Amino acid sequence: MNGNINDAMTIKLDYELPEYPAFEEGYRRAPRRESHLSEADKALAIKNALRYIHPDHHAQMAKEFAQELEEHGRIYGYRFRPAGKLYGKPIDEYKGACIEGRAIQVMIDNNLDFDVALYPYELVTYGETGQVCQNWMQYRLIKKYLEVLTDEQTLVVMSGHPLGLFHSHKMAPRVIISNGLMVGTFDDQKNFNRAAALGVANYGQMTAGGWMYIGPQGIVHGTFNTLLNAGRLKLGIPQDGNLAGRLFVSAGLGGMSGAQGKAAEIAGAASIIAEVDDSRIETRYTQGWVSHRTDSLEEAWAIAKQHMEDKEPCAVAYHGNVVDLLEYLYDNNIHVDLLSDQTSCHVPYDGGYCPQGLTFEERTEMLDKDPEGFAKLVDKTLQHHYEMICKLHDRGTYFFDYGNSFLKAVYDTGVKSICKNGENDLDGFIFPSYVEDILGPCLFDFGYGPFRWCCLSRNPEDLDKTDAAAAEYIKNHNRRYQDYDNYVWVRDAKKNKLVVGTQCRILYQDAMGRMNLALKFNEMVRNGEIGPVILGRDHHDTGGTDAPFRETSNIKDGSNIMAEMATQCYAGNAARGMSYIALHNGGGTGIGNSINGGFGMVLDGSERVDNILKMAMPWDTMVGVSRRAWARNENALTTVVEYNEMYKGQDHITLPYLADDAIVAEAVKSMKG
Ligand SMILES: NC(=O)c1ccc[n+]([C@@H]2O[C@H](COP(=O)([O-])OP(=O)(O)OC[C@H]3O[C@@H](n4cnc5c(N)ncnc54)[C@H](O)[C@@H]3O)[C@@H](O)[C@H]2O)c1
Repeated sequence: MNGNINDAMTIKLDYELPEYPAFEEGYRRAPRRESHLSEADKALAIKNALRYIHPDHHAQMAKEFAQELEEHGRIYGYRFRPAGKLYGKPIDEYKGACIEGRAIQVMIDNNLDFDVALYPYELVTYGETGQVCQNWMQYRLIKKYLEVLTDEQTLVVMSGHPLGLFHSHKMAPRVIISNGLMVGTFDDQKNFNRAAALGVANYGQMTAGGWMYIGPQGIVHGTFNTLLNAGRLKLGIPQDGNLAGRLFVSAGLGGMSGAQGKAAEIAGAASIIAEVDDSRIETRYTQGWVSHRTDSLEEAWAIAKQHMEDKEPCAVAYHGNVVDLLEYLYDNNIHVDLLSDQTSCHVPYDGGYCPQGLTFEERTEMLDKDPEGFAKLVDKTLQHHYEMICKLHDRGTYFFDYGNSFLKAVYDTGVKSICKNGENDLDGFIFPSYVEDILGPCLFDFGYGPFRWCCLSRNPEDLDKTDAAAAEYIKNHNRRYQDYDNYVWVRDAKKNKLVVGTQCRILYQDAMGRMNLALKFNEMVRNGEIGPVILGRDHHDTGGTDAPFRETSNIKDGSNIMAEMATQCYAGNAARGMSYIALHNGGGTGIGNSINGGFGMVLDGSERVDNILKMAMPWDTMVGVSRRAWARNENALTTVVEYNEMYKGQDHITLPYLADDAIVAEAVKSMKG
């Protein structure tokens, strides 16, 4: 049978096994992952991985895979990782039968760039566990498919596994991706860990498995917006003011959290960010994303204090545990204006959260040798962390959950007092998620979200031209303070040296802004002013994600537990011809806590692309605004009223009648039960 199978495939891994590549020093490696496999499961995991390998090599590779499973809890197929540095090369250097096939290879390689990825050898782009695909056999095979994919075929990728090429048509997506989607009864971390160890589930996070990560720049803009608007809403900062003289404190300088210091600086604040892993501080310091680094709590505070007095911004990396930092600030009566956290609390027991009293190295060792003991320490620190936040809050600090499931993680340790209803998490928590208080009402409800683009030529001049075009557009469409913030952002983007990896830009825009900029860029490609561009967005957006503890935490009609918006968004983007689309379980808040999706759209200058942009770009955002309007969110209602007027006779969105609370209360009173 194996002979027939081999002959029946023209697209497969090369017969010869590649040389086992050397691991270069100085790059972070993922900790061992939890697997808990039975003997039968171990056999299944090895058999599953051997599906990619010619049987002549099974005896050798079975042993190699067994060793990887034992050492790492996963089979990564390290042998199949191409040697040396991977990075998103200029698009012309890739093989392909259509532009999308080549463009998508740029994005995959950018997600695995040594300078970009968190654990490049384990295919982890960011968020502790967010992978491009599960193993290097899949990486190689996906690339082989992308090299032959035509503009009349669609590649299907399930949790990193390229299922195959199927014929479709020119207006269809070229790649359809899903990651970690599980059947309800089994949709929990334990079952996911087993499935991942068996090699049948990938944790795509958001743009990791959606192949649209653009380095921490992606989140700098969102964090900048969040901090500035938190200052406006909670500290009385005027619309045209900034956070000069104010103190922002948080934790994490990893893949996404690494943006915090930079964003705080752009917003004018003095900030102290705790980070237990010195190598991540080193990365951010050499990039210029933190301005100072120290192991001393006294020194961290002295630097921040001086900058606050001088009304100058700074980003101080404190090498140590965030809970130690909070204790110091509290004990010394230091007022913290804004407080948050961005440790990887969506996976606290898998290495995402470091317990107090352990160094980063001790955390890694304990995770490997005593995962149960480690989990107990995590619980203890989370509870104490929460206590410290409550104490600072009582002294006037504004704390917000920054989308890392921190509050949920505390609740999961058994702390019921953190729940709004004192019982369970159905009504959310006593501290707001930043989406609930800030990003939701100020941005998502209007449709403003993390639109982004990459210049596939890797030519910085192309990025300069698109930045200039975007700044010009926003200047001419300045309707409210959000537009002005976005203008300042893109005007200063080059000066702020935000690019890591390919030449990409993030720019929060609403539905019309996204569509008009997309059409403008496509025109620039058509006119030969710039090379091809790929558009996308973070899944963390108005319409792409259902996540009750984050993106949809300001949906208050009870539908926050539903996952239909993200699913419809994905299906609608497929129907309208986005170049590739992705739908994931988990995202930034963990397995079972979110369904999220995104897209990539290649601009080749064609009329076909113009037509897709006109259909797909408004849909991708307005699906979210519509759902938010139906949930009676005020700013979304206004946005939909305007949209219905603008698209009269073409689109039509259902609006809710608003009931008088007194009438409803009266009706409830009249009920017998
Ligand atoms: N709000 C958003 O828009 C958004 C976007 C992306 C990610 N996130 C969430 O933020 C979290 C962080 O994402 P990431 O990509 O930076 O992950 P990451 O794992 O790369 O970084 C987290 C960092 O926290 C550090 N850390 C862990 N415990 C610590 C402790 N007790 N004290 C000090 N430092 C500690 C780790 O060493 C690590 O460097 C994730 O949960 C992610 O889902 C939120």
